[in-house]
Amino acid sequence: MKFFIDTANLEQIKEANDMGVLDGVTTNPSLMAKEGIKGEANCRKHYVDICNIVDGDVSAEVIATDYRGMIREGEELAALHPNIVVKVPCIADGIKAIKYFKGKGIRTNCTLVFSPGQALLAAKAGATYVSPFVGRLDDISSDGIELVEKIVDMYTYYDFKTQVLAASIRSTQHIIQCIEAGADVATCPLSAIKGLLKHPLTDSGLATFLADHERVNA
Ligand code: G3P
Repeated sequence: MKFFIDTANLEQIKEANDMGVLDGVTTNPSLMAKEGIKGEANCRKHYVDICNIVDGDVSAEVIATDYRGMIREGEELAALHPNIVVKVPCIADGIKAIKYFKGKGIRTNCTLVFSPGQALLAAKAGATYVSPFVGRLDDISSDGIELVEKIVDMYTYYDFKTQVLAASIRSTQHIIQCIEAGADVATCPLSAIKGLLKHPLTDSGLATFLADHERVNA
C-alpha cells in the first residue's frame, strides 16, 4: 500500500514526508484554491515546490475540459518535473487525452471516478492511476469501499496495470478498509495517516516499560 497525501499545503506535505512513509502527493483545483494559489505560473511553481519536497509521484490536474486544451496543459505540466503525473477528469475528452498521453509516455491519474465502468475506460485508455472517490460516495449513502473492491477485482481479472489510487479518504478507518480492499494507493489527509499510529495499548505499554525501568534505576 502506497501512501499519498491529498493536499497542496507545503507544511503538511513536509510533515508527512518527515514521517518517512510518504510515497507521493495528489492535488486538485480545489486543494490549490484552498492554499490561495492562483494564476498558471504560480500553480506551476507550486507543483515544482511539491516535487522538491517529496521523492514520489505528484498529481497535477488539468483545468481544460476539451481534448486539445488537456493535451496542451498536460504536456506543459509533465515537462515541469519527472515526478509530475497529469490528473485528468473521467469525461470523454479526458479518456481520449489519457490515450494520447499513454502514447507519449506521460503518466496520468484519471480522477472523479465513481463507477466500475468509468474505471474500465480509464484502464483501457492506459491511465497510470485511477482515483475512485470513496468519501463522496459514502456522503450519498453509496458504498465507496465497495467500488474500490470492484475495481481491484476487475483490474486483477483482466490484468490491467492501472493502479487503484483510493481518493476522497476521510478517516483512518477508510485507509484500513482500502488496504483490505487491495487498493494500490490511498491518498489521505495527514490526520488520517497519523491516526494509524494511535493505539492506547502502545501508549500504556510504553508507560509501563518506562515506569518499571525508572523504579529499578532511580
Ligand atoms: O483527490 C481527491 C480528493 O481531494 C477529494 O476529496 O474530501 O473533496 O471528496 P474530498
